[in-house]
Amino acid sequence: MKIHEQIENLRDEIRKHSHLYYIENKPELSDYDFDQLLKKLEKLEAENPELITQDSPTQRVGSDLSKDFPTVIHKKQMLSLANTYSKEELFDFDQRVKKLADCEEIEYVAELKFDGSAISLHYENGIFARGITRGDGIQGDEITPNLRTIKSLPLRTRKEHTAEFEVRGEVFMTKESFRKLNERQEEKDEKLFANPRNSAAGSLKLQDPKIVSERDLNIFCYYLEGGETHYENLLKLKELGFPTNPNFRLCKNIEEVFEFCSEWENKRANLPYEIDGVVIKVNSIAQQENFGQTAKIPRWAISYKFKAEKAETKLSDITMQVGRTGAITPVAELEPTFLAGSTISRATLHNEGEIKAKDIRVGDTVVIEKGGDVIPKVVEVVLSERPKDSVEFEFPKTCPVCESELVRTEGEAVIRCVNFACPAQVQGRIQHFVSRNAMDIEGLGEAVVKMLLENELVSDFGDIYFLEKSKIAELERMAEKSAQNLVDSIEKSKEKPFSKVLYSIGIRFVGQGTAKVLAKTFGSLEKLKSATLEELENTFEIGPKIAISVAEFFKDERNLELLEKLEKAGLSFSEEQKEGEKVAEFEGKTFVLTGTLPTLKREEAKELIENAGGKVSSSISKKTNFLLAGEKAGSKLAKAEKLGVKVLSEEEFLKMFSGEKNEEEQSGIDEQLSLF
Ligand code: IVH
Repeated sequence: MKIHEQIENLRDEIRKHSHLYYIENKPELSDYDFDQLLKKLEKLEAENPELITQDSPTQRVGSDLSKDFPTVIHKKQMLSLANTYSKEELFDFDQRVKKLADCEEIEYVAELKFDGSAISLHYENGIFARGITRGDGIQGDEITPNLRTIKSLPLRTRKEHTAEFEVRGEVFMTKESFRKLNERQEEKDEKLFANPRNSAAGSLKLQDPKIVSERDLNIFCYYLEGGETHYENLLKLKELGFPTNPNFRLCKNIEEVFEFCSEWENKRANLPYEIDGVVIKVNSIAQQENFGQTAKIPRWAISYKFKAEKAETKLSDITMQVGRTGAITPVAELEPTFLAGSTISRATLHNEGEIKAKDIRVGDTVVIEKGGDVIPKVVEVVLSERPKDSVEFEFPKTCPVCESELVRTEGEAVIRCVNFACPAQVQGRIQHFVSRNAMDIEGLGEAVVKMLLENELVSDFGDIYFLEKSKIAELERMAEKSAQNLVDSIEKSKEKPFSKVLYSIGIRFVGQGTAKVLAKTFGSLEKLKSATLEELENTFEIGPKIAISVAEFFKDERNLELLEKLEKAGLSFSEEQKEGEKVAEFEGKTFVLTGTLPTLKREEAKELIENAGGKVSSSISKKTNFLLAGEKAGSKLAKAEKLGVKVLSEEEFLKMFSGEKNEEEQSGIDEQLSLF
């Protein structure tokens, strides 16, 4: 047999077993035997590199790193779904659909709603050519090398289909893979992922496909372009070798759909992956096309969302967590109980008011809930189970870490430890400073920071830059190599731009977006330091609360001393003002402005766009990427809609600009997440 035939046969053999294993769930070979086949192929290919093809099973993990993700416009917009939460809402949807179709009964397909990331896949002549994230629905990131690592994704279809076609599906992580990933993160002393959905989405955006491969992602495909009915398309997908989920049903009417929903609401906990509802789609593709869509939502599909999962457990204690800003968060210590895919042993109680309002007491049996979101919360107390000798919970008067008196600021729900030197705050500030979105100093996890503090090698984040390698190497569990790595990553962090430094130093209410605005507006630390409250407040996007916080920060001697250390270490304290920091979503894009914007003046918007690398044009055409529209937008808006140009409100525009949601909201979430 010729060598290329040998190689092809081996590939076919591997594909067959891979399919049996990943798709059919009926492996015929042991893992060992399967690996042997793969090794044999790798060897043959290494000897004959000219015979390596893109669709070979050995090519799942590309060896070269992808640097940046190119943006690709979707062939057809990737839509979202409207949600329903009750039988009534579901039946209302059915009424609307019947009216649109002008008929008595509609056939639906009900399928599970997987909790992951939507992906578009392109096949050319049967070969996986390109994969793109949903992005904003209009355009997404091309992440082909990362998708190739998903073992159940066929690099080549099992049967012939049209020369070019698109498939869509959901990339997700099983509960088990998620658990293992977090175990590994914990071992490495790295931040834990909040839930399988976030870890799947995050993994897809990693730069190194090798790491993506270790994340063990999975995919279910639920869309194939063309065809006559959605049901047949799902069957076709399976035939072509795509991983489809077996739990879907053709329903003759909405009653049958509702039955499917109720069934899965009860059974979902047994699935090895997370689902958060059911997706209901009109079966006929012709009808789907007839009904069309509103801005982002199809009229022919809807989701039925499950209620948050609940469980009862005992609250064994209420402890206090001290955040980096001194905020005290009460935490419910629970008897470990399994809920929605993970074991819960802690839940946030938010603040004193929450404990009072729900009269939560140590020893109570409580109902906990984990909604679409991650953070479990205590919903209510089961009063009938309350022990007779239970007493009302008394909130501590002093900080559990440094014992200084706690303070409540007027109008705030949180109680704070205002001792700047409180060890919990010191540690929190350092951890924030080194975290991934801040100075991103690898190797400085919680445990290492603690050791550095305990050994008095650092007393604030400024000291990090004056650490000596020999001293680090002497620490427990540290060796020459890890000390060197740490020193290297500390050195590397000095290259971070001014805006990152500004975010890292932890001024209250200054998140990543605000830090960028401040860095861009003031240009240097010197100027920012001497800015008056009025100047700060006059900066667009900066409200009085942030302005006061910034001004107070720079009044504090302790902060100024810290900044001096950072300056001495050579951190970046200014930013090129002319260029502005390019914002990926703006770069090279054409904007048209119309109408009156709620807060921005036209000139301000224009300057922002241009600084971020975009262009502003006065008339709208097919080439326009965005229309920034305010009140009384008139004909340009109509034209944009006709041409399919994306329309942005000022709010959406600013969100894109800062790349972040609400600063306060986000920092709240960060603090909450650090609990778990
Ligand atoms: S169909 C036209 N089917 O839900 C519709 N989406 O809220 C949208 N999703 O972005 C795609 N499971 O990420 C469809 N079986 C399923 C799904 C599903 C999960 C996600 C998908 C989409 C989001 C819409």
